[in-house]
Amino acid sequence: MNLLEIRNLSVDLPLEGTAIHALRRVNLLIQRGTIHGLIGESGCGKTMIAMSLLGLLPRGARIMAEQFVFDGMALSDVAGSLRGRRIALISQDPAAALNPVLTIRRQMDDVLRAHHALPRPARHAQAVEFLAATGLADPERVLRSYPHQLSGGMQQRVVIAQALATGADLLIADEPTTALDVTVGAQVLALLRQLVTERGLTILMITHDMDVVAEVCDSATVLYAGTSVEGGATAELLANPRHPYTRALLAALPDAAPRGGRLAAIEGRIPSPVETITGCIFAPRCMLARSGCTLTSPPTHLAGLQSWDCVIGEEADVDA
Ligand SMILES: Nc1ncnc2c1ncn2[C@@H]1O[C@H](COP(=O)(O)OP(=O)(O)OP(=O)(O)O)[C@@H](O)[C@H]1O
Ligand SMILES: [Mg+2]
Repeated sequence: MNLLEIRNLSVDLPLEGTAIHALRRVNLLIQRGTIHGLIGESGCGKTMIAMSLLGLLPRGARIMAEQFVFDGMALSDVAGSLRGRRIALISQDPAAALNPVLTIRRQMDDVLRAHHALPRPARHAQAVEFLAATGLADPERVLRSYPHQLSGGMQQRVVIAQALATGADLLIADEPTTALDVTVGAQVLALLRQLVTERGLTILMITHDMDVVAEVCDSATVLYAGTSVEGGATAELLANPRHPYTRALLAALPDAAPRGGRLAAIEGRIPSPVETITGCIFAPRCMLARSGCTLTSPPTHLAGLQSWDCVIGEEADVDA
């Protein structure tokens, strides 16, 4: 069952008489009770997709979509009411997400009061329960603390507890481990996996790290220059990438480089978001591009969980 179905989502932002094409016809399908990775280089539109879901696009943004459905409801109608109720954000910087001058007790209580009509003692019990659910050993002590009295990993657990306290069933984790050291980051990822298994939550995991996708995501969508180029089950995506960009991205990983060999860098530059693109957006940098690719998008097909991939890579394999 899909919790989220987005087809051909585009977002334009106004810029001095012209437009920034922040998203260009993005497709995204997320199955309920799974972790879905959103992977791509800086500026490819990961956060913009999160903001579209949360109804938090910058002023003047123009949003267009063929389909934008959350749990069977058209999101354009209900984005405002869903935000913070069915969809919650875990940002990359927990210190910035928490208010430095308020205790955790007050900040947990603010979230609980906003989302549930419960008497004070019940809210306290819930705060303790949600903090404990994120693996914090002494919730009562955490409740008495100010953010600066907690480590980065503990702060991120509090932010996750706040997300749980909203009652949301989709958590968007935007680079949730960037501000943490490797060990603590791995613990936070393990916690998110545990929450999916135990509470049936769904997580959209935004990352630029293919290892994060490989380790915790059931499925993933690869973004390039504001568009989705390929999506599907993680194992299939990593073992059998079809889109030339996904292949180049995987080939550029250190493990794929022969010992002493150079990393596979992709020649050329990412197109500017103000450019109008005809044909395939990756064509100018694609090793497999044919003359027609810059005129019209190459043929795509739908396979597996989701896939709107370029089929040229596959055809090249057959030809070889
Ligand atoms: N407030 C804004 N006003 C104008 N353009 C913006 C704004 N925010 C983002 N953009 C543009 O939208 C595009 C997508 O940006 P976005 O922040 O979603 O990328 P990202 O994938 O999250 O990058 P990063 O990995 O650096 O966080 C980029 O071209 C960016 O320049
Ligand atoms: Mg971002």
